[in-house]
Amino acid sequence: MSEQATRAAKKAAKTPAAKAAKTAASPVDAAAKGRAGKAATSTSKAPAAKSAPARRPAAQAGAKQVAAAKAAPPAKATRAKASTAKPAKKAGSRSATAAVLEAKSRADRAAAAPPAPGGDAKALQLDAHRMVKLDTELTTDQGIGVEDTDNTLRAGPRGPSLLEDFHFREKIMRFDHERIPERVVHARGSGAHGYFQPYDTALAEYTAARFLTDPGTRTPVFVRFSTVQGSRGSTDTPRDVRGFAVKFYTDQGNFDLVGNNMPVFFIQDGIKFPDVVHAVKPEPHHEMPQAASAHDTFWDFVTLQPETMHHVIWLMSDRAIPRSFRTMQGFGVHTFRLVAADGTRTFVKFHWTPVAGVHSLVWDEAQKISGKDPDFNRRDLWESIEAGLYPEYELGVQIIAESDEFAFDDIDLLDSTKLVPEEVVPVVPVGRMVLDRNPDNFFAETEQVAFCVQNIVPGIDFTDDPLLQARLFSYLDTQLTRLGGPNFAQIPINRPLAPVRNHQQDGFHQDDIPVGQANYHPNSLGGGCPVVPGAGGGAFVHTPEHVDGIKERKRSETFSDHYRQATLFWNSMAAWEKEHIVAAYRFELGKVAHRHIRERMVEHLNNIDHQLAVAVAAGIGVPAPKPGRPNHGRMSPALSQASMPGSTGVVGRKVAVLVADGVEGASVESIQAALAEDGAVVELLGLVDGAVTTAAGDALPVTRAMNTVASVLYDAVVVADGEAAVEQLVNDGYAVHFVAEAYKHAKPLAVLGVGDRLVQAARLPVFEASDRITAPASKPSAGALDGVVFLAAGADADDTFLTELTTAIAAHRHYDRPVDGIAA
Ligand code: HEM
Repeated sequence: MSEQATRAAKKAAKTPAAKAAKTAASPVDAAAKGRAGKAATSTSKAPAAKSAPARRPAAQAGAKQVAAAKAAPPAKATRAKASTAKPAKKAGSRSATAAVLEAKSRADRAAAAPPAPGGDAKALQLDAHRMVKLDTELTTDQGIGVEDTDNTLRAGPRGPSLLEDFHFREKIMRFDHERIPERVVHARGSGAHGYFQPYDTALAEYTAARFLTDPGTRTPVFVRFSTVQGSRGSTDTPRDVRGFAVKFYTDQGNFDLVGNNMPVFFIQDGIKFPDVVHAVKPEPHHEMPQAASAHDTFWDFVTLQPETMHHVIWLMSDRAIPRSFRTMQGFGVHTFRLVAADGTRTFVKFHWTPVAGVHSLVWDEAQKISGKDPDFNRRDLWESIEAGLYPEYELGVQIIAESDEFAFDDIDLLDSTKLVPEEVVPVVPVGRMVLDRNPDNFFAETEQVAFCVQNIVPGIDFTDDPLLQARLFSYLDTQLTRLGGPNFAQIPINRPLAPVRNHQQDGFHQDDIPVGQANYHPNSLGGGCPVVPGAGGGAFVHTPEHVDGIKERKRSETFSDHYRQATLFWNSMAAWEKEHIVAAYRFELGKVAHRHIRERMVEHLNNIDHQLAVAVAAGIGVPAPKPGRPNHGRMSPALSQASMPGSTGVVGRKVAVLVADGVEGASVESIQAALAEDGAVVELLGLVDGAVTTAAGDALPVTRAMNTVASVLYDAVVVADGEAAVEQLVNDGYAVHFVAEAYKHAKPLAVLGVGDRLVQAARLPVFEASDRITAPASKPSAGALDGVVFLAAGADADDTFLTELTTAIAAHRHYDRPVDGIAA
């Protein structure tokens, strides 16, 4: 443990939080106790590894396993496989070569990396700044006790208020100034603490960055996920890019990997950033629409700027409506450099892959969630962490030798509108990030965190990507205003764990007290300190590079192809993904009032794929174009979400069980227990809150009333058995709609016994297809039964049924169902 951490630990033991932990009794106290206790125990020991849920798949998918899954969809899992279990621990041999790295499974490498110290160091540092209010008395900001905070000082009970009332004036002054400017982009965000740990030393051949190469250290991280377009209070589920920003508090200083959930960007040169952001944000004359790209200015801009076409097709895909922050990828987007201890450089691209798989909402659902629960993704992140279902991501790298800089057809590594397909350069897993702690205070941490692309540590370096170079200026610049002056690196969430010593001084909000006479370099009055460590002393050194060129405003010819990778993406999609993309273009362009913009977009689509252009044109009243550029036919299967089902089964999936008085309690309870054991979150929804009486006369508590939620907030629905119960559900339009809507959104559905009457009332096509329920099969309907499981009336929810159910839920969605005719 570092000296700093030890100091912080000692301090932590003395904080009010630690003291409160000793006497904690109420639930609030218990929360304080948990945190203080964690801080205290972690001072002496490495944090305990997350305890494994009871059952998880035998192997967690690594890059190679994911690739294998692409070739062959997962076979029907056994019950044990559909549930979840931590990977079996195996010892893995270590090798520094990328080839060997590729061959190793993620599970082997995760198991080889032991729990290590360091993960709680940031929590300990923050402890010194926590204000715990339990068992305290109200004071002013000056520490003066307050007599009364409910009545202003007045001349008589009905008389005028007095200026003398300093408590009133201070209280209102502080309230008046609570707001700071929201971020100019990515204003809506949600944060979490966690740690990163490399699997082994394999990257040491490529980088001197210790946090990437020392499996004995857990580096604390703070992550902020965000949407781009909307204001701070906007919905979580617009069609939008998601930010995926990670601050690593390494012992060599802070490293910020400020990425997105899509691997490419709209523009090639940062000088266009104000244009693309102005175009997508609410239109300036009436400030509409909020958090939406479906409006004229966005489509006007992108159709005049063809370099956006690749990112735009990602935006039209399901990647733009993630089910959860737990289920989306992250990308560093730009090509960066790794720099080894001996100065050798390689190009690198960073990838985050969620262990829970890549899963999305459907568009109709996303829009409804915006009304039913605009905090949907934020709530999911918070509740998962509170429940101990810690979101986990694997860091992967694509490593490219400098000598291969020009080896790729159609790809300039400095062009952020291009990706390097995994089939061309594999993504090598190098470590894992676990998010295991919610912030204490949204404003202090999530709002005040300042990610900055220029925060970089020895062993990593930039490239000449013109988008990246613009970002190097922009973040520091905007944060000066947003955070009110130059000292924002001292805000607790931004403070590095590595010591900070320099002659920068003064300015608004200086929290440190520099001691001594010498505030300049060189000096002799301060003993020459702080000394400049220089290259040999672990300082960051910009890697020497020969630069030669004519000063001009010009883009490289190698940046000029704007369509071929959009075609690659389109070709790589599963059939259902293509349908969703076409529907998204139709929706968005359908909102564009100017016809010429719609027409221009169809022309661009024709350069991507003729069939795509024809399909979109047919939905937006634009004539079908003549065949355009031939489709090159290349694919990258790794780009399809279908290739990333994840390996955590039903962990964190939310299941609604519809119940009413007269329900058959036994089957409900056994399903509830089995799913909960596997890590799913099961909620019993009644027609009213409280409890229902089972057919056997017992009270069965419900989680909440059905009318306070909606099917769109759940991943799967179970319709309970019981004559009287189903009779009530069938006569409740809300319950009928709940089932119809869940089915339409391709969600798993479990129908117990006479619960099939509710399915019938919802007019789902399962009856035409089913050979398992009483209604005769009249017209078989392909896909109608996908993800629908039945339990005969009065039957036990046995292992066979539970396996079917967990397999259906683990698959997330069943998109081959015929759902167009369903009114929901
Ligand atoms: C690959 C391209 C880009 C990616 C992946 C990206 C990603 C992000 C992310 C994740 C955030 C949110 C950070 C947070 O959670 O606090 C952010 C904020 C921001 N980005 Fe970018 N961005 C990109 C391009 C640019 C460019 C080209 C510029 C300007 C030239 C820019 C300017 C900003 C600004 C000003 C903020 C707000 C920062 C703050 O107020 O703290 N970004 N970006």
